[in-house]
Amino acid sequence: ESNVSVGLLGLGVVGSGVIKLIESHQEELAHQLGCNVNVKSALVRDLEKARNVDIGDTYLTTNPDDVLQDPDIDVIVEVMGGIEEARRHILKAFEAKKHIVTANKDLIALHGPALQEAASRNGCDLFYEASVAGGIPILRGLTEGLVSDRIQKIMGIVNGTTNYILTKMDCDGVSYESALQEAKELGFAEADPTADVGGLDAARKMAILARLAFYTNVDLEDVEVSGISDIQLEDLQYGKKLGYMMKLIGYAQIHEHKLEAHVQPTLLSRNHPLAGVKNEYNAVYVYGDAVGETMFYGPGAGSLPTATAVMSDVVAVVKNIRLGVNGRRHIKPLFKKELTTPDE
Ligand code: NDP
Ligand code: HSE
Repeated sequence: ESNVSVGLLGLGVVGSGVIKLIESHQEELAHQLGCNVNVKSALVRDLEKARNVDIGDTYLTTNPDDVLQDPDIDVIVEVMGGIEEARRHILKAFEAKKHIVTANKDLIALHGPALQEAASRNGCDLFYEASVAGGIPILRGLTEGLVSDRIQKIMGIVNGTTNYILTKMDCDGVSYESALQEAKELGFAEADPTADVGGLDAARKMAILARLAFYTNVDLEDVEVSGISDIQLEDLQYGKKLGYMMKLIGYAQIHEHKLEAHVQPTLLSRNHPLAGVKNEYNAVYVYGDAVGETMFYGPGAGSLPTATAVMSDVVAVVKNIRLGVNGRRHIKPLFKKELTTPDE
């Protein structure tokens, strides 16, 4: 088989993880694909910036067309973040018949269904495993592992930054500001962490999860949000004395086509399984009426863990290319059931 050339849009925390993972796990990838994978080019903002990864032969560019229009590139990995520019690049990539793998939950939460349609129209794949819960293969867990089940409820910790902050405040007495600064330095927080601490990042992930789990048309506005930016160290210490721990919990449940979905700081008993989820780790509890209770646990953010999710999608795209089945939606089709509003 001929080698697979990947193009990156973005070479920050996740993009450099992808380069490192391809380099360190070429043997595993070659075993799956029967060929080597290489990153041919990467779109960045600043060509002079020091990179904490050996980029080898990868060509750095500030011109998106060098990636989007390169006939050698089969798969484009969008890890630049943001919404409008990323969306435009992805639509242009589909027109050039490129397959897209993205970690961008901001974009998928807002425009996922429309982008999926654009992908299918062009015979392209759009995969986004890394967009929810970093290294945990939760989207495949829902759409493949639990595909025969009827999922009723999802609950979990789906933002690594806020879980890191709450853990450091609760366990080590670190201030909110210092803990947030650490989460930024470790690469867990978004470039602008407002969406992390305000709960919007978790709401975006809950919207994506609910869409796939409940097979329905969940919009971001369907998820009520409150974040942790007003939480004080004293609140956590008081809770601790009473045997509780504060977690930012996402919740989504469907009952008779009515959705209840929210993200909010919640006091959990310190014996609760989700209270044991520390630092940047995430956990997603899924209740299906056949499987019963399942819990998916692992690193929810960070360079290499997120890169594993990205590469699982790249491998899926390449296998589809070999089978000639790209664009045929290998996740559950959306919109099988329409939601009703509470007054209907
Ligand atoms: P970073 O800020 O570390 O990296 C962004 C990269 O994109 C940088 O290389 C930057 O270039 C480049 N870039 C950004 N905007 C532009 C632009 N307009 N034109 C050209 N290049 C651009 O982000 P992350 O790697 O942390 O995150 C990337 C995506 O992955 C986001 O959607 C994020 O939400 C998602 N994600 C992140 C996780 C994490 O743990 N960090 C986990 C799961 C998902 P330059 O380097 O020159 O500045
Ligand atoms: N900023 C996100 C988080 C990255 O902290 O969970 C992973 O999506």
